[in-house]
Amino acid sequence: MKIAHISDLHFGAHDPTVRDALLAHLIDASPNLVIASGDITQSATDVEFAAARVFFDELPMEVFVIPGNHDLPGMDLTRFINPFGRYRHHLISELNPELAAGPVHIKGINTARRVLPHWNWANGAVSDVQRQDIARTFATASAPWRILVLHHPLMSPKEFPLDVTVFNGQALLSTIAEQRIDIVLAGHQHHAYIETRQDTDHKTLFVSASTAMSTRIRRQPQGFNLLELTDTTLRIDQLHYADGRFTTFEALSHVKPAVSL
Ligand SMILES: [Fe+2]
Repeated sequence: MKIAHISDLHFGAHDPTVRDALLAHLIDASPNLVIASGDITQSATDVEFAAARVFFDELPMEVFVIPGNHDLPGMDLTRFINPFGRYRHHLISELNPELAAGPVHIKGINTARRVLPHWNWANGAVSDVQRQDIARTFATASAPWRILVLHHPLMSPKEFPLDVTVFNGQALLSTIAEQRIDIVLAGHQHHAYIETRQDTDHKTLFVSASTAMSTRIRRQPQGFNLLELTDTTLRIDQLHYADGRFTTFEALSHVKPAVSL
């Protein structure tokens, strides 16, 4: 099974040339599924969401999407009255989606909040109800690979520490270990990296993607991740945009250790 992990598209602050290159690459690579881990728009306007809808509709495969902090309106009343109204209207009503397909069982969690007990409302949070939802999801999951999708990352790249606060993040890390989640996909930092965390006999890969098509680049160009999975093996290609196309700049192979029962 092939999965493309794209993040931080930021429609409204996107580069149309990169957008077209990404669309062409995804159509050509033909993954079974595209996962978009939030910040689909820049300012959560109807025009931006409509542009995102067009992009997703042009993809021939299923798209699994969760919101990011930029998918909430800015400082207007809508943010407080109906924060995800436009997101739901244009994309999907479920903010914490779930999908079982082939060797993967995927759970998405919305970590964006209309308000936070912090000066920076771009940060994220996870609630106890969401952690229970994760536990419930994976209690009955039988697929070999358990994947959690978040917008806000729980790790930071070693070479480029970026301060991201996720309220209840430590509790979520415990849930991830308890539920033996194999892969956590995230974005937000506009920086691609893979960190691993070993808990007792289980290893979790924390995979972050750069911004897929926005002009808001930091140390890396635009990019995305391509995951190829069998029941026991995983290969992750990290691609970046250079000279008008996306190419692999790093690849990681991982074998799922046998579970001792
Ligand atoms: Fe973000």
